[in-house]
Formats: sequence, C-alpha cells, structure tokens
Amino acid sequence: MATTIIVGTQWGDEGKGKITDLLSEQYDVIARYQGGCNAGHTVVVEDKQYIFHLLPSGILHKDKICLIGNGVVLDPEVFFDEINALEEKGISIANRLFVDYKTHIIFPYHKMIDESMEEEKENLKIGTTKKGIGPAYVDKYSRNGIRACDLIHSDSLEKKLNSQLEHKKLYLYKNYQIDISKENINKIKEKYHEYGQKLKKYIIDGSLLLDEQIKKHKNIIFEGAQGTMLDVDHGTYPYVTSSNPMAGCACTGCGISPIYIDKVIGICKAYTTRVGEGPFPTELVGSIGEKLREYGNEYGATTGRPRRCGWFDAAVVKYANRINGIKEIVLTKLDVLSHFKKIRICKEYKINNQVYPHYPADSEIIKLIEPIYEEIEGWKEDISHINNFNDLPKKTIEYIKKIESLTDCKAVIISVGPKRSQTIIR
Ligand code: IMP
Repeated sequence: MATTIIVGTQWGDEGKGKITDLLSEQYDVIARYQGGCNAGHTVVVEDKQYIFHLLPSGILHKDKICLIGNGVVLDPEVFFDEINALEEKGISIANRLFVDYKTHIIFPYHKMIDESMEEEKENLKIGTTKKGIGPAYVDKYSRNGIRACDLIHSDSLEKKLNSQLEHKKLYLYKNYQIDISKENINKIKEKYHEYGQKLKKYIIDGSLLLDEQIKKHKNIIFEGAQGTMLDVDHGTYPYVTSSNPMAGCACTGCGISPIYIDKVIGICKAYTTRVGEGPFPTELVGSIGEKLREYGNEYGATTGRPRRCGWFDAAVVKYANRINGIKEIVLTKLDVLSHFKKIRICKEYKINNQVYPHYPADSEIIKLIEPIYEEIEGWKEDISHINNFNDLPKKTIEYIKKIESLTDCKAVIISVGPKRSQTIIR
C-alpha cells in the first residue's frame, strides 16, 4: 500500500492536475481534501483538454475511486456540470465518485458575498476567484454551515437556511442586500433540496471508505488544490485562500490518521506564478514576465485572469518543503524556459542588507525582501519531446540540479509539456 499527498509548493497552478492524473495510473483512490471550484486542474489526454474545478483529477481513469473529502466546499451546480461534461465524453462516474456527508455546501449568497466584498473593498483586495469559497468556509467555522447530508432532508434544510440567512442579516452582511424573504428562502430550499436528491447517491462516509481501502492495502492519492503559499495559516496572509492546501490538511480534510501517510510529493513549476494580489518577491513586471506568460500560457484556468510571472524562488520552495515534509518534487513546465538565453534563480533573500535564510513569517518583513539571484545560461533548445533525463541538454540538467541543491530535495519527475507523454520519470 502507498498513500501519497500531492501538494503545490508555490502559489497554485503548479500543474498538480497533470501529475495527479499521471500518477493515478498506479493508485486506486484519489481524494480531494480542501478548496472548492476555485481550483483549475488541467489534464490533457490524447490532445483533448479537460479542466476540473471540483472533481479529483484522477477521474479520467475509468476504474479509479474518487472522493470529495469533508474539507472541500462543494458547489452542486459545478459538481453536476462536471459530471455531465464527463458523461457526454463517454466517461462514466457511476459507483466510483463519492462526496463525504460532512462536505460543506456553497450557496448562491456565498458567491454574492464573495463578489461584493471584493468590489467594495478599497484596500486589501485579495483578488479572489469569486466562487464563494471564503464565505462558505466562514459559515463552516462559525458553525452555521450547511453540509451535503443536510440537503437530503427538506425540513431541516429549511430551518438551517432560515438560521443562516437570519444570522447574515442580523450580524454580518447588512449591506449586501441578501434577499431573505420567505419566498427567496423557499426558492433556494427547493433548488438545493433537489440537488440533495440528486446528490444522495454520491454521499458516503468518506473517512470510512478510506479506512476500508487502507485495510485492503490499496494505494491512495490525497490531492491538494491551490498551493502552500496560499495556505490560510502558512501562506502570504491575508492574500491567501480560505483553507489549508498544505499536506497536514489531508488528514483533517478526509478524516484519516497521519500514521497512514507514506509520502508527500511537492509540485513545483520551473519558474513562479501567482494570480490575485499579494507579495511575490521574484515577480517580473516587464517584458521577461510577459514572455513567461505568453510561452507558458499563464492565464487562470478558473477565471482566465493573466497570471503574474517571475523567476524560480528557491526560498519559497524550501519553505514549502519544510512545512509539508517534501523530499521529492515534480518539476513542471521546464520546456517554457527553453525560450530564454539567460535564466535566473532566486537563491535566498536580502532584508535590510542582511542575508535571510528563511521565508519570513512577518508580513511587514516580507515587504522588504530583495531576492538574491544567480544567473544561469539558458539551453535554448526544444526539450518538449525528450523522455529520458540523460537526453536533456547539459545546461538543463545543471538547472535541475541547482534547484535540487537549493531546495534540498530530488526532482523525481520532470514535465516538459501538457501531455501525459511529455514526462520524464527519473
Ligand atoms: P479564493 O480561493 O477564491 O478565495 O481566492 C483567494 C486567493 O487564492 C486569490 O488570490 C486567488 O487568485 C487564489 N486562488 C484560489 N484558487 C486558486 C488556484 O487554484 N490557483 C491559483 N490561485 C488560486
């Protein structure tokens, strides 16, 4: 049996979708443990591109069990849209896609609140995906949330909706004009109760399913969404998402014990990107950044927003490796760097004229970061067809080895293009 957590080591969009899909071949179960449809996991199979926002990226393998864990927030509309899109392509999810009873549900007013909070803020705009993720987690943690199991029972759903919306009217969102008329509550209740009836056949005790699979010595992937630097506790707060993408959350987000985790694999882009606001020490705002964006097609898979681009930041990845327990990384999008004559790597930081060996925890100190770069000769050769590590140009191998030594881990898989076949396994 092997249980592996797949986690992003930067600000998300590292290519977790492709790698989860690729590794799923050797696994039996793929479970998502946090986030929601803010994620955009892209998988390319036989020239067809699939983008999953909510379903686990292993879903394309027809014999694999996929679980949406209790730590996820689920938008039923997106859930059924993704199922329909798969079924239209002849991929059946019957009896192999499940949702935990305890998964919290995103309602239309969560999306509304997310949108209006972003629009109304003058300072500290986060640049959220506006999918209602934060407000749904707020309800969960204020013990006012509605879970998948609650959708099944019409009476209790009505009571819970009434209480949730009353609570919003009275205390929190007076200005957001949420319609809490009986008529509207009834409308939402009817629609979500209907979702509940459709959802019923997918709802199970996810923790129990995983326990049974572990006892049968099955192989399990725990798939994280977003990335370590977007972690609500350990990321660049407040410019983060509202859950914990870091590996530790796989246990709480799926209801299993840490003693069953064998390994954590970090997914790491060969350069750095982020969407939304917040610190980004190696960001390139000029023509090099634009070149990275164009060659890397760095546009959000969920919102289409242009991603901010910059050089590889070893301090960030070293930090992610430390807090996630990563010894092995997957280096993605290395082919994008083939277009550059010179490539830079940020080795560490200078802050107030002193070398700073760690990613700082204090947000005021983060503002003072000056990256210390090492410049490397580019290889200027197409590598997107190479399948063997030793066939890579010497300078490419040097770049990979530099990253390994700076971040103290081994690049076990190298991705040189979006297709499954464009992968080097070492
Ligand atoms: P939220 O998760 O929609 O609340 O957005 C909070 C922050 O996380 C924003 O900066 C988003 O751009 C970012 N974010 C959320 N999901 C992803 C993702 O899957 N990839 C990259 N950034 C994300």
